[in-house]
Amino acid sequence: MKFEFENTLVPAEEIETIGRKLESYQKHLNEVVAAADYSSPESSINLPDDSGIRDSVTELANEKTKNGLSYLVVVGIGGSNLGTEAVSEALGGYYNKLLSNSHPSVLFLETTDSRYMESLFQILNKVNSASEILICVVSKSGTTTETVANASLLTDKLFEKFGEVAKERLVAITDPDSSLASVAREEGFSLLEIPKVVGGRYSVMSAVGLFPLACLGFDIEKLHAGAREMRDRSLSQTDNPAMHSAIMLAHHYEEGCRIHDTFIFDPSFEYLGKWYRQLLAESIGKRMDRDGNERRIGYTPTVSIGSTDLHSVGQLTLGGPRDKITTFVSRDLGSEEFDIPTSGAFSGLTQGRTLEEVLEALIRGAESAYVKSGLPFLSCTLESVDEFEIGAFMQWKMLEVMYLGELLNVNAFDQPEVESYKKATRSILENGQETQGQ
Ligand code: PA5
Repeated sequence: MKFEFENTLVPAEEIETIGRKLESYQKHLNEVVAAADYSSPESSINLPDDSGIRDSVTELANEKTKNGLSYLVVVGIGGSNLGTEAVSEALGGYYNKLLSNSHPSVLFLETTDSRYMESLFQILNKVNSASEILICVVSKSGTTTETVANASLLTDKLFEKFGEVAKERLVAITDPDSSLASVAREEGFSLLEIPKVVGGRYSVMSAVGLFPLACLGFDIEKLHAGAREMRDRSLSQTDNPAMHSAIMLAHHYEEGCRIHDTFIFDPSFEYLGKWYRQLLAESIGKRMDRDGNERRIGYTPTVSIGSTDLHSVGQLTLGGPRDKITTFVSRDLGSEEFDIPTSGAFSGLTQGRTLEEVLEALIRGAESAYVKSGLPFLSCTLESVDEFEIGAFMQWKMLEVMYLGELLNVNAFDQPEVESYKKATRSILENGQETQGQ
């Protein structure tokens, strides 16, 4: 993965000053890796080394797909499914939808939506054998209302259609002590555990992401290898992209930037942007700092798709309030498959160029306009679109957010306000109204 940090507009001495503030945290992260366990909030960075998780996931995925899987339904929300969605979309899902001919198809059941459920039921009605479908229920807590409601409806339908054999088509991925784990053990569903300290938005390299991705045929070993390489790079003293991007974000935060736009020049990466949106928003958006002071800290993450959103967000960023920082994301543009005709009805500057040359010009054109407007940005280029580079991208972002939490003095691993909506929802469902003090 290649990075260009020339346009971050952070003075060199500032990079050094802020970098020094991260020295002890960087040392701590290196100790976490040396400990090679799951005992610290940052321990998700050890997942790429965990061949045990890879082995158990691969074994179960092979067993569950051996008779030909047609549909994989992932039931989960937030950190429990966004990572899987991001990887599968980037590595083919986006284009497969266009052709609608790929199997297995993956369907994500996130919020409660009766129209979506109706479509899922129609699919289930068409499935002839239980082995064609697999339902993967992912919830760290095991109690998230949307996931419980969706899983309950789907499971019921599966049992109604296939009887007891349905048991074999359910996989729960959860905390070992959750109610979902107990249900899986009691009912005889397959169970994969998430290490206790690994929270949803940092869990894509655990069974949460690995199992569904392995069922879809993606190379999880390669995903881990990319994440591992980026982790090591982002814990080093030099050429440390996660630290560098965190410094850029922290510097501009102090200067009044409150919006981080991830501007992606590849529509299949849109869910990578959405996955990062959740990671940044939920990790850094905090009312209290770690010293207990009310500070209401946070970056608003936005996702823009190039070049389409140059025709909307581009105008806003270039002409509107100077409260944004941008990360441009693109992939190496190599293949020259589509030559634009040199003659014909549509004449113009693109004649005789390839589609990729046009995209390259659009990316460089956007960057040049941002430079001229004095807007801060960094550029990141994936050298290929494969598991290795996507794994590296995700690990970069997870470490960036950890460093940023340290710099902005917030706990990047909790989500107290999300818990408060979850509790209130449960209370409304239980009592018909929210009980005092919830
Ligand atoms: O990152 C997080 O912790 C959250 O976004 C959770 O993933 C999300 O709230 C879903 O929670 P659970 O996995 O407990 O169902």
